[in-house]
Amino acid sequence: MGFLADSLGRIKPSPTIAINDLSKKLKAEGRDIIGLAAGEPDFDTPDNIKEAAIAAIRRGETKYTAVDGMPELKQAIAKKFKRENGLDYTPSQITVGTGGKQVLFNALVCTINPGDEVVIPAPYWVSYPDIVLFAGGTPVPVKTRLEDGFKMKPEALARAITPKTKWLIFNSPSNPTGAAYTRAELKAITDVLVKHPHVWVLSDDMYEHLVYDDFQFFSPAQLEPRLYERTLTLNGMSKAYCMTGWRLGYAGGPEMLIKAMGTLQSQSTTNPSSITQWAGVEALNGPQDFIAKHNKIFKERRDLVVSMLNQANGIKCPKPEGAFYVYPSCAGTIGKAAPSGKKLETDEDFVKELLAAEGVAVVHGTAFGLAPAFRVSYATKTSDLEEACRRIQRFCGGLR
Ligand SMILES: Cc1ncc(COP(=O)(O)O)c(C=O)c1O
Repeated sequence: MGFLADSLGRIKPSPTIAINDLSKKLKAEGRDIIGLAAGEPDFDTPDNIKEAAIAAIRRGETKYTAVDGMPELKQAIAKKFKRENGLDYTPSQITVGTGGKQVLFNALVCTINPGDEVVIPAPYWVSYPDIVLFAGGTPVPVKTRLEDGFKMKPEALARAITPKTKWLIFNSPSNPTGAAYTRAELKAITDVLVKHPHVWVLSDDMYEHLVYDDFQFFSPAQLEPRLYERTLTLNGMSKAYCMTGWRLGYAGGPEMLIKAMGTLQSQSTTNPSSITQWAGVEALNGPQDFIAKHNKIFKERRDLVVSMLNQANGIKCPKPEGAFYVYPSCAGTIGKAAPSGKKLETDEDFVKELLAAEGVAVVHGTAFGLAPAFRVSYATKTSDLEEACRRIQRFCGGLR
């Protein structure tokens, strides 16, 4: 590769961001595009959070803060972990970064040595395997099945664990499937982990609050206290608080790991924006009622999208418990010809032809490690979703 580092050769640009950029570009060119590729809520950040940030600027809170989070924010996070997850983390067990993604990056880069394996249920969020690869480790994907609601079976986890396994990355509710583990399903997973004391758990709880139909969320260290000493519980403000652009994520875990992550951050980005951190304090300590309001809308959209996609020829769409994604299989369309005459051989063909023929942007399942399928984000205006699903139905109905 010449000038560039070998580590860069192991990773690729995020495919979800690439599709999102392509759909924005086509839109700017005047095409009628409905983008269902973005992983962010269409709702605006609540006003009380914005006001807290403005007040912080006016007070002059515009200087460096402690590298891995200012004390006021760590207090708010500790209270959140206790209140919502029954987890005790002291401020020295909490780290704050510029988005959940940075916190995840710090954790993996701080712990992975060459040859270390990281078990990742598939389909997975696109960044997990690439950060593992960048850090010099080996991702070990464990394929789940649509018939199991895309949830990993305990036996499959047990088979994937070797003496080299360092982490399991666990993400419930999941990006890209929306699947969330019930208490019993999670217990079956934690029972396996208890038997393998060398395996650490990175629980990505980013979509914790986005669950529907009275689903009850549990985090692994909450359900199985024997895992507490080797679990990093990761969360952030992006999804539930509609703060993707603010960049704030955090985690609780063993002090030794938290300290190492802070050291890495002190030699890279230093503290997350002081203004964003004050917004985060308000988000966690302030009123939470907007979450239920948003969830009511998300649930209606999920039901609409699942119902309409299941009426499209060749598409099979399970109804997930949470997040704002569905992950339909397009196996029934493979082998058919699109309006352009192109034969659909992969889900990537399906996605490209759908965008060309109907102007609907979704992300191919291959990017998430389980094909043939595609991810639909329903964090979009309901009227646009309805129109997009009509177009998908028309596209699938027109395949020959
Ligand atoms: C599963 C999952 N984890 C973590 C993140 C990181 O979010 P952020 O860096 O915006 O906090 C995302 C964002 O898409 C995600 O989907």
